[in-house]
Amino acid sequence: MPTPAIQVENLSKNYGPVLAVNDISFQVQPGELVGFLGPNGAGKSTTMRILTTYLPASSGYAYVSGYDVMYQSMQVRERIGYLPESVPLYPEMRVSEYLGYRARLKSVPRAGRVARLDDLMTRCRIKEVKNRLLGTLSKGYRQRVGLADAMLSEPPVLILDEPTSGLDPIQIQQTLETIKALGGRQTVLLSTHILSEVEKICERVIIINKGQVKFDDTLASISRREPVLQVEVRGPTGEVEQFLRAQPEVATVAAGAAVDGVTAFDVKTKNRQDLREALTARLTGKGWGVRRLDLKRASLEDQYTQVVLRQDMVAEPVPAAEPEPAPEPTAPPAA
Ligand SMILES: Nc1ncnc2c1ncn2[C@@H]1O[C@H](COP(=O)(O)OP(=O)(O)O)[C@@H](O)[C@H]1O
Ligand SMILES: [Mg+2]
Repeated sequence: MPTPAIQVENLSKNYGPVLAVNDISFQVQPGELVGFLGPNGAGKSTTMRILTTYLPASSGYAYVSGYDVMYQSMQVRERIGYLPESVPLYPEMRVSEYLGYRARLKSVPRAGRVARLDDLMTRCRIKEVKNRLLGTLSKGYRQRVGLADAMLSEPPVLILDEPTSGLDPIQIQQTLETIKALGGRQTVLLSTHILSEVEKICERVIIINKGQVKFDDTLASISRREPVLQVEVRGPTGEVEQFLRAQPEVATVAAGAAVDGVTAFDVKTKNRQDLREALTARLTGKGWGVRRLDLKRASLEDQYTQVVLRQDMVAEPVPAAEPEPAPEPTAPPAA
């Protein structure tokens, strides 16, 4: 087993009374492109700031390429490219000037530096603004200058905090392609609260909510999960449920509430059997009406909904108003 590119163990962070990250653990292997998904306030940025050494953890451990973020922060910084949530830029500098300055700061070798910057600006699609002052750029361009900065020294690990926020749909597509092209060679952890972005480019997704990892799996394995047969039957709920359970191919049955004599059931079969036609025939044979029958494949969206929405629906005592978050640090990250 190679040293993980990112290793997080029982990491927690509280801001005063707010527990932003609550005992999370995960690993990212070299070359993986992992989506770090969760709603606003889930703890994504906090985790990323700890990983990039800009914020100390309250407890637990985090390592980048085997180096401890707390005690070996210089080694960690040498190995990561970080795109923070709000990109700190010097407003009075021009784009190419800024990247040149960052390249010197990050000790990008002088030989080939100009060509490297040129290539980066092309890949990040900021060439057309290379002579513009940073202070005059739109959010979308600032974000992409930040991405170019993160990629500058070809670090083995890239931590990208909402790299597509503020971009229009075309720019989002282009930026995702740029990031996807990094996968395999570099390790990328990319946060977003937008599901479809993760589905487009990531192989694996970690979903966090309320500071905890709720889901960690590859997209391929989600699609291999047992599909759910959604059936709506007109008939006596209990009897229909019993009948469904009694079918030899059926693994589990979950009944919803009956509305106007029709009940919705979620049926899972054994060994991915497609029971649609057989079940329709058997149910109508019993004299019950089949109003709907759908085979629903497992999707990331279902997982996300389960993790994020269903949990919110569980009745919880209304928490006291959260304190205002402190302002973001404004200093640009050092090399
Ligand atoms: N500097 C801060 N001071 C106090 N609370 C904070 C601070 N930064 C974040 N929080 C709180 O921590 C939680 C997680 O925030 P954050 O890591 O920014 O989530 P995400 O990036 O997933 O939106 C939220 O409840 C947020 O309000
Ligand atoms: Mg954030």
